[in-house]
Amino acid sequence: MAVSLVIGAQWGDEGKGKIIDYLSKNADYTVRFHGGNNAGHTVINNLGSFAMHLIPSGVFNPRAKALIANGVILDLEVLVSEIQTLKKANIKLKNRLFISPRCHVIMPYHKLLDRLYEDAKGKGKVGTTGRGIGPCYADKVSYNGIRLADFFDKKNFDKRLENQLLIKNKILKSLGSKPLNKKAVEKELFPLFKKLRPFIAETYSLLDKAIDNKKEILLEGAQGVFLDVDWGTYPFVTASTTISGGATSGTGINPRKIEKIIGVTKAYMTRVGQGPMPTEQLNGIGTKLQEEGMEFGTTTGRRRRCGWLDLELLRFAAKINGFSEIAITKLDVLDNFDSIKICTQYRLNGKKVQYEDGDANFLEKVTPVYKTMKGWKLSTKGVTRFSDLPKAAKLYIKEIEKTIGVKVTFVSTGQKRNDIIKI
Ligand code: GDP
Ligand code: IMO
Ligand code: MG
Repeated sequence: MAVSLVIGAQWGDEGKGKIIDYLSKNADYTVRFHGGNNAGHTVINNLGSFAMHLIPSGVFNPRAKALIANGVILDLEVLVSEIQTLKKANIKLKNRLFISPRCHVIMPYHKLLDRLYEDAKGKGKVGTTGRGIGPCYADKVSYNGIRLADFFDKKNFDKRLENQLLIKNKILKSLGSKPLNKKAVEKELFPLFKKLRPFIAETYSLLDKAIDNKKEILLEGAQGVFLDVDWGTYPFVTASTTISGGATSGTGINPRKIEKIIGVTKAYMTRVGQGPMPTEQLNGIGTKLQEEGMEFGTTTGRRRRCGWLDLELLRFAAKINGFSEIAITKLDVLDNFDSIKICTQYRLNGKKVQYEDGDANFLEKVTPVYKTMKGWKLSTKGVTRFSDLPKAAKLYIKEIEKTIGVKVTFVSTGQKRNDIIKI
């Protein structure tokens, strides 16, 4: 398999980092293609414990090149600090890390605007990560963005920034924030750009050549299907295309080259931030899932909302992404439940309805229909063979596979790289 794509099948934090780290042992290229440092991908392996925000989670395979492709937006300070963290852990990045000059840069005003927009919305806020993601992508698609490439020509950069500050300072002031000074912004960003300069290269050409040479390419999705700007629970979404289609625009790899699409789902549901979540358990079950799963955000530290697995959402996720296989993570978190529920469908006004029938408002109103399954009440932590799983855990996995109609090929049973069953 030459090009494989890993996609979050829920609201993010499915354990993509863990799966990517495991799969990267066979990769020649490991690639991020959208989102920014709103992502937090946890990797725990023999080199340590890492929260990856911008650099691909497959970077720990020393043979693999790590690419930040054109669809990613960059907070230069976060990227420089991530490079330093990896260097400290003795991960060599020279001639391995490549950053596309087409990447848009998250400017200081984007971060300010993110917070100001959220504050202005009050109760209707999205609950963003506050990293400037929405405002940066908004500038990208309204032709107001500043790209890494712009930093190479200082005069051109000056002009673009001056122009933007003319607009942005008016908005900042009207929302009660102080205006930004051009010199100060440049003083902050140029030293960071200098540090990144050796890593900047057109990633399209690298990938194009790699495909011709039949290299193994591993594309790492961020966030998840239900945060997609078109197909998620708008407006409670993120600003990028998180479904499989985003991998083509975000890298330049044409769709016919993507052979494997692996959907990653937890064995239950979580969500951070606002928005509908039909199977959320605002009770002892939700608290137990949150505690046993240690469900705190990797980027913001916020407590994640928890609920039972939602197969209506997973059905839609499999369809819209074209999953060729599914990886289930955090099975071990369900070890101590007497019974486990799975949502098999939604009903509204006595009728069966589907996710795609409505919007976020509609999703708030649907009633999930549950199937109750027996819990296994045995530890699955660190199990590496399917045959070693308790019978009820096997049935749980088979039920997911049967309902969705996509083969489950991995079951993760712990945080560490090798806590995994390959089926
Ligand atoms: P990502 O954003 O999709 O990469 O996921 P995060 O890293 O934000 O959140 C997933 C969390 O679950 C991390 O703390 C992982 O270490 C942890 N995790 C991943 N797989 C497993 C698993 O199979 N069992 C347990 N207990 N934890 C897991
Ligand atoms: P990974 O890649 C979980 C959520 C935020 C908020 C909404 C919009 O680790 O799975 P944004 O800052 O993007 O404008 O916030 O999206 N969100 C995530 N939730 N995992 C993520 O990334 C997320 N990235 C954004 O909580 O609800
Ligand atoms: Mg995460």
